[in-house]
Amino acid sequence: MSEKKFSDTPASAKTSNYRGLIERYRDYLSVSGKTPVVTLLEGNTPLIRASNLAAEIGFSGEIYLKYEGMNPTGSFKDRGMTMAISKAAEAGSSTVICASTGNTSASAAAYAARAKMRCVVLIPDGAIALGKLSQALVHGAEVFAVSGNFDEALNIVRELSEKYPLTLVNSVNPYRIEGQKTAAFEIIETLGRAPDFHFIPVGNAGNITAYWKGYKEYADGKFFIAAASAPYPLSTIHYPLPHMMGFQAEGAAPIVRGAPVAKPETVATAIRIGNPASWRQAVEARDESLGAIDIVTDDEILAAYKLLARSEGVFCEPASAASVAGLIKYKKIISDSGGSDGKDSPVAVCTLTGHGLKDPDCAVKNSSRPMSVPCDAAKIVSLLGIKS
Ligand code: F0G
Repeated sequence: MSEKKFSDTPASAKTSNYRGLIERYRDYLSVSGKTPVVTLLEGNTPLIRASNLAAEIGFSGEIYLKYEGMNPTGSFKDRGMTMAISKAAEAGSSTVICASTGNTSASAAAYAARAKMRCVVLIPDGAIALGKLSQALVHGAEVFAVSGNFDEALNIVRELSEKYPLTLVNSVNPYRIEGQKTAAFEIIETLGRAPDFHFIPVGNAGNITAYWKGYKEYADGKFFIAAASAPYPLSTIHYPLPHMMGFQAEGAAPIVRGAPVAKPETVATAIRIGNPASWRQAVEARDESLGAIDIVTDDEILAAYKLLARSEGVFCEPASAASVAGLIKYKKIISDSGGSDGKDSPVAVCTLTGHGLKDPDCAVKNSSRPMSVPCDAAKIVSLLGIKS
């Protein structure tokens, strides 16, 4: 088994010794020595301090960005997919299936390719970002563009997986949640504690469920910071739980409205979902954490998306920016609340679920055009207004 583990790590990566999140958190995941680990070295993503953003929006606390776009296929889905595909392989499955707004299909296609499995993907026709579609196609998934939305596609794949030998790898698969909870572990390890507030976009509601599970396992004492990775004495670590702050787009906000949305609409195509599969779990996370699930408008999402890119050099996809838009919406309440002991300044983490390059059309559409100029250095200098 240990030989197999090392074969997934290229020689050049040996200095980091990182072997993917299943190996990193094996003790906290439902895997055994028999589980064939299918990994692309996902996880271990940066937690970036966003001081410029805090200054721009006038937030008195600390903001950190969990940049999940740095996963191998460019989204947080890889955390769940390494688990789902490894467990499917363990169970002898040869075909996986999912419905997707894009990222799940990109991730499933990549991990299935690595595991030599067939991958069947249903996407809402014309409603997924180009980068994501290109990934599913290039990894060799069998892609069906259905004339319906994500919720309708999910109903079909659920039915098919019940009737045929197809393993469902949407987040209703509990191994997906298991893998995704490791993002909470990483945040705790980096900060040495849980944040006071955790901001996250909500679509099918698997990720908010997963983070809350991870944070609770930490608070319950099931997860311990490895002594070697803690930069301070373990006795100084305290164990608060964060308030989970979930955000849905205005036109796709079933949880906030308390009823499914038949025709969800938003610029953030990743969270264009009207009937989330993990609805109940998301409400539990909100209520148990004394948090909130609220709406952000498309304009607020795009404003946060641009602000992040310009003030921090961090490029995320529109759906991801819903977390930052949520922080901006709640900044006053949160600044006033103080930190975990009510005195120090609050620590907020925003999960940036996917990379900005997933949706280049959105970036180009929401930026100014390049200026066409003659091939003339003097002309460019004059346009820049630079004097010698
Ligand atoms: N952000 C991005 C970039 C996503 O792709 C998704 C979900 C979410 C946020 C919401 O996460 O569903 O766990 O609440 N994308 C799924 C997909 C639905 O098919 O790729 P969630």
